[in-house]
Amino acid sequence: MPQPHQTSRQSISAAGIERNARIAPSILSADFSELREAVTVCQNAGARTIHFDVMDGQFVPNITFGPRVISSLRPHFDLQFDVHLMIVQPERYIEEFTKAGADILTIHSEACVHLQRTLDHIRKNGAKSGLALNPSTPLNVLEYLLDDIDLLLLLTVNPGFGGQKFIPVMRNKISESYNILKTASHFIELEVDGGISPVNAKEMTTLGANVLVSGSAVFDHPKGAAEGFRAINNAI
Ligand code: DX5
Ligand code: ZN
Repeated sequence: MPQPHQTSRQSISAAGIERNARIAPSILSADFSELREAVTVCQNAGARTIHFDVMDGQFVPNITFGPRVISSLRPHFDLQFDVHLMIVQPERYIEEFTKAGADILTIHSEACVHLQRTLDHIRKNGAKSGLALNPSTPLNVLEYLLDDIDLLLLLTVNPGFGGQKFIPVMRNKISESYNILKTASHFIELEVDGGISPVNAKEMTTLGANVLVSGSAVFDHPKGAAEGFRAINNAI
């Protein structure tokens, strides 16, 4: 039986909206004591995707939350849940996160030895498979994985914390990635994550990104998250 989050994913694909850029607010910068309210504000401002940063204190120095937070929010929203796993050996938790309600499940190339198998496992569990690369990780890891990914996430800061500055040389990496992804036989989304704000959002889309993750620019906006979301949306 289709779950609410599957309906959301299918309708997004069916409409072909994926080719238009969208903002994925990262709840990393939200007030954790009122996450449901934070996601509701983003939804009301027009967000269709919410980004979840899962950190284990090993792959990155920070610790955030696990599948329980995702499964608790899942029944309340028909939004696309975009789950970014910054954890070592993510293959241990694929089922838990897909069952919790992840629509996109993204793993790091630097954290997983058997990438192809794990990406395949994500799809077999009903989610879109995402591959994330740290800023210093070269793009040649993509060479034999294009058939296995639905999304490429480029970290444009070193992962672990919100509110960091976009690394300028990542502009080249975004356009190079876009050119590689274009050669695939299916549409692969290009997501940028870290230091995205109204100042550089438009440029990101010009370079080829179609999913823009933003945490602090949304949630730390002086007039609140709805205004933060709208400011980026207006920029693109
Ligand atoms: C970085 C996370 C990002 C982070 C982005 O470790 O993967 O998703 O929340 O935050 P901002 O938009 O503040 O750079
Ligand atoms: Zn992220």
